[in-house]
Amino acid sequence: MMDRTDRHERYFLRLISSRALFYTEMVTSDAVLYGNPERVYAFDPAEHPIALQLGGSDLVALAEAAARGAEMGYDEINLNIGCPSKRVSVARFGACLMADPVLVASCTRAMSDAVDIPVTVKTRIGIDDHESYEDLSHFVRIVAEGGCRTFIIHARKAILSGISPKENRTIPPLKYEFVYRLKNDFPELEIVLNGGVLSLEAAAQHLEHVDGVMIGRAAYRDPYLLADVDRRFYCDSSLPRSRHQVIDALKPYIAQRLEKGIHLSCITRHIMGLFHGQPNGRAWRRHLGENACRPGADFAVIDAAMAELII
Ligand SMILES: Cc1cc2nc3c(=O)[nH]c(=O)nc-3n(C[C@H](O)[C@H](O)[C@H](O)COP(=O)(O)O)c2cc1C
Repeated sequence: MMDRTDRHERYFLRLISSRALFYTEMVTSDAVLYGNPERVYAFDPAEHPIALQLGGSDLVALAEAAARGAEMGYDEINLNIGCPSKRVSVARFGACLMADPVLVASCTRAMSDAVDIPVTVKTRIGIDDHESYEDLSHFVRIVAEGGCRTFIIHARKAILSGISPKENRTIPPLKYEFVYRLKNDFPELEIVLNGGVLSLEAAAQHLEHVDGVMIGRAAYRDPYLLADVDRRFYCDSSLPRSRHQVIDALKPYIAQRLEKGIHLSCITRHIMGLFHGQPNGRAWRRHLGENACRPGADFAVIDAAMAELII
């Protein structure tokens, strides 16, 4: 998620679940090719397993960017066909490409030819008037013929003009039945459902119909939601860290990043939800929000926020 799942957020979440697959924010192929790698797509080895999500529609640029991602050590390259932003549509990538499955198939083919890791697609169930199940299954069939085996489907269509990207995540209704039906019609494909999944209970129910579930906003709002993922979905019997242990484990990372000149708030903005729903969780959040942005803020701010949790 743009401006959310950056490397600090992913490092933090990895301390909560060691198995869940994480995705980067969407990065354009040009940003990968011409940007500063350290800023654009570098990650910490602790973040594995991790997928690099690319945006673009230029075959050569996408193939080259995918190759750079694979060289960097990513476990998967994902192509974004779900972003409804006008800016993105003008640049001819994101959700507007659902109207051109042949181009998407060529993109994923070019990317797959450039790497030895899986190339996957994240898409919507439709765009504008192309919103029937037949439109969706046509898209998936053509792209699968291009070699893509895994589709992550945000179960609402995108409306490409007239509403904002934010409204595009709430206004079009969720149609989970389309995603279930896809799995039924394409049993050989890996179908991952996304959109409006708020709990692991809900994820478990969807998993009776599909191969995987992607959780976005709920995990950002309440990251400790992921604490039971390893045990529940990966048969991993190791005990998850407690919330306090997560903070302890994050300390060396924060120290290392502060030393590199990263501002404390770049990290703490992602951990504000850690005590979501817990006693004094709001005081924790407030303390971090008010103090981590001050010049020279360091770990003392986190220690003081922890003290706010003591009842
Ligand atoms: C702030 C924000 C940024 C997002 N950025 C991306 C993105 O870069 N790539 C992407 O595939 N989806 C992006 N999304 C969409 C989410 O990945 C997800 O598809 C959507 O929020 C529905 O899932 P959820 O209900 O679990 O959040 C973004 C969502 C939000 C809220």
